[in-house]
Amino acid sequence: MARAFTRTDIKLSTDDAEFTLFQERLKKGATFVVGGNSTDGRDGGKSNYTVIFKPVLTDLQPESAAAADVLPALDQAEGWDGILSHIFETCEDVQTQTRILDILLGFDANDLGQSDLVKRLLARASKQPDSRLFGRLLQLNSQLGIEVAMTPLEPATIDGVLALTDRADADRGRELIFGSKTAAACLICHRIQGQGQNLGPDLSGIGLRSDLKTIIQSIVEPSAVITEGYRLQVIETDVSTISGAVLQETDSVILLVTQQGTLERIEVGSIKSRQTLDQSSMPATFSVILGNEQIADLAAFLLACRHPSGESTN
Ligand code: HEC
Repeated sequence: MARAFTRTDIKLSTDDAEFTLFQERLKKGATFVVGGNSTDGRDGGKSNYTVIFKPVLTDLQPESAAAADVLPALDQAEGWDGILSHIFETCEDVQTQTRILDILLGFDANDLGQSDLVKRLLARASKQPDSRLFGRLLQLNSQLGIEVAMTPLEPATIDGVLALTDRADADRGRELIFGSKTAAACLICHRIQGQGQNLGPDLSGIGLRSDLKTIIQSIVEPSAVITEGYRLQVIETDVSTISGAVLQETDSVILLVTQQGTLERIEVGSIKSRQTLDQSSMPATFSVILGNEQIADLAAFLLACRHPSGESTN
């Protein structure tokens, strides 16, 4: 077994033993992970036993491949376009879609930016931003510097949205936020009627403290008026530069929410520089992703959210 299975750096502790995890990718695609409490390859005498963990949905250490090798081959491959359109246009398997984007995120930025295939793939994926796909698309777009229009729509403007408010439909707005396929990614950061995360302000009572135009502005131009405490901060550490809103801060640690809705923990001791921008930590991309009509629907729904404590309205 030591031959077939690859050792990972991951260990699993139980009450009475510590297992080193080994994994093997089987031909059919399933990955098995096993743990052993001894790694010298000999059995007998000292309770060396092996435990199989299953089912395992994600690989502990995805196989690495160089983008430079893989991408040109894919760019040439006949039929690959068809497979991608199937995965991103007709198939609703968001798990596979996120997985493909994760693999791309693991590649080197320079190689990725040159691949036509990657550009086409992003253009496709971006037409239906599910909340789980959205963060990854934003990341690919910004960090890898690949410029992909997130949708074929004209970017929304405040006036453009206001002109449509007569025809706006709060139910469609609700569906955009809570629907599984159409999710507008708001719940990655906002709590609304008991759902979603508390990384931005709770929107359950937004209709009580705001008006239609301000709500539209918050979505189309988040940086025009910024709720106190949510200005974008750029923190440079020994190893990286991270931007986001500070969620929590102690003398030793800062917890930052990035614009992709992920949490970053930063040791204060590792900070080299820190800057607060006059910019909201809510992404400004929704005007491009959603368009006038969908934002009008969202605003109609949010205006009707008038529950100060955030309990369910229906
Ligand atoms: C990556 C996190 C993130 C995502 C995703 C996000 N927001 Fe925000 N949002 C924020 C933060 C942070 C603020 C507070 C800063 C500000 O006012 O600009 C905010 C503010 C707002 C406000 C104003 C809140 C107030 O109390 O006045 C509204 C309305 C809003 N967001 C709507 C949305 C909608 C609708 C979506 C989905 C289409 C969305 N947001 C997606 C982070 C996010």
